[in-house]
Amino acid sequence: MPRQLFVTTALPYANAGFHIGHMMEYIQADIWVRYQRMQGVAVDFVCADDTHGAPIMIAAEKAGKTPQQFVADIAAGRKQYLDGFHIGFDNWHSTDAPENHELARQIYRDLRDNQDGSLIERRTIAQFFDPEKNMFLPDRFIKGECPKCHAKDQYGDNCEVCGAVYAPTDLINPYSALSGATPVLKDSEHYFFKLSDARCVDFLSKWTQDGKLQPEVANKVKEWFSVRTNPDGTQSEGLGDWDISRDAPYFGIEIPDAPGKYFYVWLDAPIGYLASLKNLLGQRGLDYDAYMANPELEQYHFIGKDIVTFHTLFWPATLHFSGRKTPDNIFVHGHLTVNGEKMSKSRGTGLDPLKYLSLGMNPEWLRYYLAAKLSARNEDLDFNPNDFMARVNSDLIGKYINIASRAAGFLTKRFEGRLGEVPEDGAALLHQLRLQSESVEALYAARECAKALRETMLLADQVNAYVDANKPWDLAKQAGMDARLQGVCTVCIKAFRVLTCYLKPVLPELARQVEAFLKVEPLSFANVREPLPAQHVIGTYQHMMQRVLPEQLDALFEPKEAAAPVQQAQAAPKKVAKPAPAAAVADPEAPGGEALAPTIGIEDFAKIDLRIAKIVNCEPVEGSTKLLRLTLDVGEKDASGQPRLRNVFSGIASAYQPADLTGKLTVMVANLAPRKMKFGISEGMVLAASHADEAATPGIYVLNPWPGALPGMRVH
Ligand code: 2FM
Ligand code: ZN
Repeated sequence: MPRQLFVTTALPYANAGFHIGHMMEYIQADIWVRYQRMQGVAVDFVCADDTHGAPIMIAAEKAGKTPQQFVADIAAGRKQYLDGFHIGFDNWHSTDAPENHELARQIYRDLRDNQDGSLIERRTIAQFFDPEKNMFLPDRFIKGECPKCHAKDQYGDNCEVCGAVYAPTDLINPYSALSGATPVLKDSEHYFFKLSDARCVDFLSKWTQDGKLQPEVANKVKEWFSVRTNPDGTQSEGLGDWDISRDAPYFGIEIPDAPGKYFYVWLDAPIGYLASLKNLLGQRGLDYDAYMANPELEQYHFIGKDIVTFHTLFWPATLHFSGRKTPDNIFVHGHLTVNGEKMSKSRGTGLDPLKYLSLGMNPEWLRYYLAAKLSARNEDLDFNPNDFMARVNSDLIGKYINIASRAAGFLTKRFEGRLGEVPEDGAALLHQLRLQSESVEALYAARECAKALRETMLLADQVNAYVDANKPWDLAKQAGMDARLQGVCTVCIKAFRVLTCYLKPVLPELARQVEAFLKVEPLSFANVREPLPAQHVIGTYQHMMQRVLPEQLDALFEPKEAAAPVQQAQAAPKKVAKPAPAAAVADPEAPGGEALAPTIGIEDFAKIDLRIAKIVNCEPVEGSTKLLRLTLDVGEKDASGQPRLRNVFSGIASAYQPADLTGKLTVMVANLAPRKMKFGISEGMVLAASHADEAATPGIYVLNPWPGALPGMRVH
């Protein structure tokens, strides 16, 4: 019997498209799943939208939609990302689907009715209530003055200015972020999962410390058994009970026998893993209970480091004490930064996956680059554009593809594509390549992608050294060297096939093209040990991958989404199609060609500090056709009293010459976090108007205040 794996990635909130952090997790898991399948392991790989909770309910209301319609619209946008980056989930489902409602309610009943004593307890707690919206407020929707540093407009759980952690009730002058009303304290009965119960503590202390978790994860989890931080910032001993209920109105699953009470989103979210699997099995006519009862079934979850508590404490306890199978492991990865910039959970970073695709950039470049940085450890990694270009161009094009392009032409032109006998020196090289299979396979199995690719590229170096030593282009000119030429090229093609097996989990589409070119069945690791016969005939080589161009990276990181796909030198298409803006909600009927953004309160507007800025210098940016570098005076002084000038990159080169702007006044966002770009750090943003459909209504118009305004004046 082959091994049977059930693999998931974390379920994304159904409130936005994917950011690059989501794509990294999906790519990491997809590589591992593809590797397992290449070993003949049966894998069911599923995910779903995480649909419930107050934030989604509120976002839906603001968008004028029902929550169901809101999450359905988000779900409809998933395919373009998943197909675009070759993520091969077997099923994409929803936590609002009937399977999840049923499973969550049954799991809850099993916990409540546990034969050794119920693990559910009811307790009355006091919570902030919005008297205008008539609802209890989640911490994130209560704002007020920080009790410690007195910063205004801080969230109910912690202060973003001084970092203090507190309870919402500690805020000075609290207000509801939904209505602006002053919240009142109101009692409500909540349902708790008794994690502090000795049975849970005993089970979890063993489950988390038996050696399966990554050591750094297990160590972190261990601390939670001795001390925990309470909502008010104080610390207590041991595991605390978990509040699993929320009061109506709430978008979620109603708790059995508790009208008006709903499961907290984090109770039903991981159950969505099972619901998606159940739905998949249903599509295949298979029985979910029988599948889960298989004692050999292995269950793995890929997650990010910010949701470890839910997956290593709440989730295994929920499963175990409801009489269900617990995960075999939780694979935790670190965060992805882009240009050293931290990711915002809702906004992502400057690297928009859809923009990447719309610029015609190859998804397998990104898969390769991320894989070349991914290890089995819970550590952060950075996307750096220069490093990306160097790594992809040098490894994939310069080392790997180069092998086929150097050998295939001779075989086609001189030997009708027929492979010849492998010469002795080549046999030794191929033996060397095949020997490495065990190590590469073990590295993929252990999720050590970076090491697997490093070993593969060292082998590619050896093959290129063999080509350089044998110079097929010289052999081709020498009389009587046909057999040697055919032999050397045969070694290259056989080596290329082995390297393709090693790269296939990361580069599935490229591997498919190679299989077509080599005229072979889909490759697996077993093929490494079964060499191609001497007489095998290959197809005609066609260039399989372009190089990354600097202009593509310029366009990818330009602040405006106005860039056209950069033409590949080799492909040389004459007409450049303008892609649809990746994220904007285009609406030709709306003013300016795009729908108005959701309404904000004055407190949201007040967060944006707009200032009059004098453009003291403006110059082109070498290597970019779109950007201008502006030096701005916003009336600031440094510690020694000298004027402090700001450096800002702006995507306005198509509309202005530097001389048009130098000496003029404009308006800038002065409190935008500095952004590291390819050309340097940008310390703000100047304001400019443009139509959403720039092709139909061209023009970019930089704002210019009335005469009399002075640098540093605030724009209200
Ligand atoms: O943190 C998040 O984005 C959650 N939506 C992850 C849920 S994972 C699972 F438990 F559903
Ligand atoms: Zn503070």
